[in-house]
Amino acid sequence: MLSQIMNMQNTNLFEDITHRLAEGKIPSPRLEARLLLAYALGVDADTLNLFALELDDAQLHKLDQALKARLAHKPICKIVGTKAFYKHDFKVDCNVLSPRPDTEILVENAIRLGQQHNLKRVLDLGTGSGCILLSVIEDLPNAKGLGVDISDKALEIAQTNAAMLGLLPRVEFARGSWFDDTLNWGYKFDLIVSNPPYIKSGDIVNLAPEVKDYDPRLALDGGADGYRDYKKLAERIPEWLEDNGYVLLEVGIGQAEQVAQIFAASGLHLCEIAKDLAGINRCVILKK
Ligand SMILES: C[S@@+](CC[C@H](N)C(=O)[O-])C[C@H]1O[C@@H](n2cnc3c(N)ncnc32)[C@H](O)[C@@H]1O
Repeated sequence: MLSQIMNMQNTNLFEDITHRLAEGKIPSPRLEARLLLAYALGVDADTLNLFALELDDAQLHKLDQALKARLAHKPICKIVGTKAFYKHDFKVDCNVLSPRPDTEILVENAIRLGQQHNLKRVLDLGTGSGCILLSVIEDLPNAKGLGVDISDKALEIAQTNAAMLGLLPRVEFARGSWFDDTLNWGYKFDLIVSNPPYIKSGDIVNLAPEVKDYDPRLALDGGADGYRDYKKLAERIPEWLEDNGYVLLEVGIGQAEQVAQIFAASGLHLCEIAKDLAGINRCVILKK
């Protein structure tokens, strides 16, 4: 493919890449062609001049590899290594879930409640790239955050993102399985957020290849009924939540009512179910 690309260089590389992506059934092929070219050239996609493309051998090789990866359905964010979420571009790779726009509704509500009630200790369970925790504490300047994840590799990415945003002085990360008994922080939290795995195990095979092949299984698999991790969280959250503290949970399509019931059985009261931009019930907000 590299030699074919090189031959294209002086004709219309952009159109050629777009065409190949379209043939590979990649959505938004023009946009993605621009992103791949910008990545290969090491420039910002917004400033890329499509009429003056000049790639050296190393850049053509990089483009070739990136195009092959995209045609194998690797998500563009995991090729270029960053994903825009809320206010920033977060570092991502195949060890973390690609941050989703749907999750921004949880972030917005956490910040709103944090500002209204002066919440200062934030716990993010299943922090992944750290996108939720870091976005929340950035906008709550008096807050400190703790991100927990079972994956060491995810925690490394979260740490890198914290450093990039200058938030290391206000954030810590710990490896553990939810409320592992080995973890004892010595204090409670007044804001607990989580986007746990919530896909039914049997449904994962039907997901888009971008998700099932490139998001970690650990980030997706919510057990046979999709509620396995909500049930585990509901058992332990009340003891780690300050009185009057808030819990915000992302949920999958159709899960909000059942998740609210699982947490009601643990003594948490439903405040609100917030919808995402598509109008889907996406974030369950609870209070002690
Ligand atoms: C759906 S992803 C959410 C990642 C990130 N918070 C986001 O919203 O983009 C769920 C995360 O939970 C983590 N996880 C899965 N099982 C866990 C467990 N038993 N204890 C702690 N974290 C777990 C996964 O490694 C993954 O990073």
